[in-house]
Amino acid sequence: MTEKKVRAHTNIALIKYWGKRDEKLILPASSSLSLTLDAFYTDTSVAFDSSIQQDTFYLNGVLQNDVATKKVSHFLDLFRKPAGIHSPALIKSTNFVPTAAGLASSASGMAALAGAANEACNLQLTKRELSLFARKGSGSATRSIYGGFVEWQMGTSSTDSYAVPIDDADWDIGMLVVVVNSRQKEISSREGMKNTVKTSPFYSGWLESTAKDLIEIKDAIYSHDFQKMGEITESNGMKMHGTMLGANPPLSYWEPDSVVAMQLVRQLRQEGLPCYFTMDAGPNVKVLCRLTDSDKIKKRFETHFDSDQLIIAKPGEGLKVLSE
Ligand code: DP6
Repeated sequence: MTEKKVRAHTNIALIKYWGKRDEKLILPASSSLSLTLDAFYTDTSVAFDSSIQQDTFYLNGVLQNDVATKKVSHFLDLFRKPAGIHSPALIKSTNFVPTAAGLASSASGMAALAGAANEACNLQLTKRELSLFARKGSGSATRSIYGGFVEWQMGTSSTDSYAVPIDDADWDIGMLVVVVNSRQKEISSREGMKNTVKTSPFYSGWLESTAKDLIEIKDAIYSHDFQKMGEITESNGMKMHGTMLGANPPLSYWEPDSVVAMQLVRQLRQEGLPCYFTMDAGPNVKVLCRLTDSDKIKKRFETHFDSDQLIIAKPGEGLKVLSE
């Protein structure tokens, strides 16, 4: 029998997840909301094989070291246990996302792994359960189980902190991803958010403000109010980066070209082209726009960036099992 391959797309948060209230269970300090993108995804298969000595993990065809394999093994144990499986696994993953460039590769990676483990263990988990499991691998993966606009509800405990689909985003929505730098980031989001929660005096203000942003952006999404959605997105992302500047030591993921991209977005807006930026734990800039304006916006960015640094993404779909 050939194992099933599962595909999960990455997602970009419009209302950010930045900080945990429980680090072990990956329970967030606030709820968040994202857009799943079609252009970046991970395909993963898991096959249990008693003839191999230990879990063996290939990423993009390359055998991974102990550290990366341990992370995957630990996550797979969450599935092996309820399924009563004790065999080692062969895990093959292909990442169509520049790894650790702030394009949330852990989101699609952990979501696809959750889906593939579910298939291999035949646990028949619901999407909601898969979202809960994916959360234990990486917070942002919670949201990659669904397509379109997705909310990760912080919940009250480990059993009710999962994502729910909000809207299919089938209304002229696009995102231009400006890859400022695709190198591995030095400070992971996990470390960055941990230190921010611990040391930033702005953190309590962030929690108060992001809760309000979430309510307002959901209204904007439900009423297809692109401008309001964009304004809240841009403001929420900047506030998250503000909390990092207040951390000790201060943290900033921005590079000079990140600022160039942000200024260009402001300029395009002044010229009457509606678009809004957001950034994550990396220097890349994501520009939320009308899909019908995306080619025009990309052309303007080509005056500052190479065309291979510019990727237009459409709303993507949720987790799916590919044909065997
Ligand atoms: C800035 O999901 O990578 O992209 O839960 O520790 O694995 P862990 O963190 P991760 O953090 C993502 C942070 C963010 C914002 C977001 O995606 O909401």
